[in-house]
Amino acid sequence: MAKILIATDKPFAPVAVQGIREIVEKEGFELVLLEKYTEKAQLLDAVKNVDAIIIRSDIIDQEVLNAAKQLKIVVRAGAGYDNVDLDAATANNVCVMNTPGQNANAVAELVFGMLLYGIRGFFNGTAGIELKDKKLGILAYGHVGRNVARVGKGFGMDQYAYDAYASTVTIENDGVKALTSVEDLFKTCQIVSLHIPATAETKKSINFELMNSMPKGAIVVNTARKEVVDDEGLLKMFSERSDFKYFTDIQPGNHAELLAAYPDRYFATPKKMGAQTAEANINAGLAAANQIVDFLKNGNEQYKVNK
Ligand code: 3PG
Repeated sequence: MAKILIATDKPFAPVAVQGIREIVEKEGFELVLLEKYTEKAQLLDAVKNVDAIIIRSDIIDQEVLNAAKQLKIVVRAGAGYDNVDLDAATANNVCVMNTPGQNANAVAELVFGMLLYGIRGFFNGTAGIELKDKKLGILAYGHVGRNVARVGKGFGMDQYAYDAYASTVTIENDGVKALTSVEDLFKTCQIVSLHIPATAETKKSINFELMNSMPKGAIVVNTARKEVVDDEGLLKMFSERSDFKYFTDIQPGNHAELLAAYPDRYFATPKKMGAQTAEANINAGLAAANQIVDFLKNGNEQYKVNK
């Protein structure tokens, strides 16, 4: 009987775990649960005799893969898979998948939650500004970017996007203006929302120069990855531009310093929470379970992200 492990440092909503259990047990597979683990040793122990693992931002590195002798597939219930060592997985003959789009709406809604909170003085009662007619720049027009545009339209925002891979037609069909460079996006938009993955090319790519080219009242919202923003550039932006604001659910390396120095312009949630809704947990968790079943039973590799 195949064993499927849910290894989530940040647990799914119970209703999502129940849904995953039903899918797995219906197939005669066994579900094992490791939630809120605090030591890597617990993960290393839990993966020993499982065939499949469902994770979130949990780190699957060479050591974990080596400990998982029976492992055939890892599914990252979510979009970004920078937490999985893809080369090591390939070398160990393990298939890695993600569940694209399944938690995108949750992240997009948080973007606007953070924006509203931030532009209204963190709800301190002072006069803020409105989103209507403001230029919103969406950096990367994937599933999250597209959802941001959908919600932004409701706020009456003037929307722009840059995506190195999406076609102009895809973007402009949504009533969003497609720009041809990331520089143009930052130069044009007072508010920029980041939706790029953390890759060798994107890490630290949101630097001082780029942010400093933004119009007056510049705001950057980061619900993507902390690694894509250059910490030093961010600090410099705060010290040189008294109009600059930054809202995020992924604390940068210099979070404590920023919070102490700029509490009226910098905001970060205690934990990464873009995808932390029951709906997103259900969508991504159940998709992960279904993908595992389809892979183990039929060899379906549709969402495979490693070679
Ligand atoms: C993703 O890549 O899907 C999001 O960053 C969500 O991550 P999480 O599952 O750790 O909340």
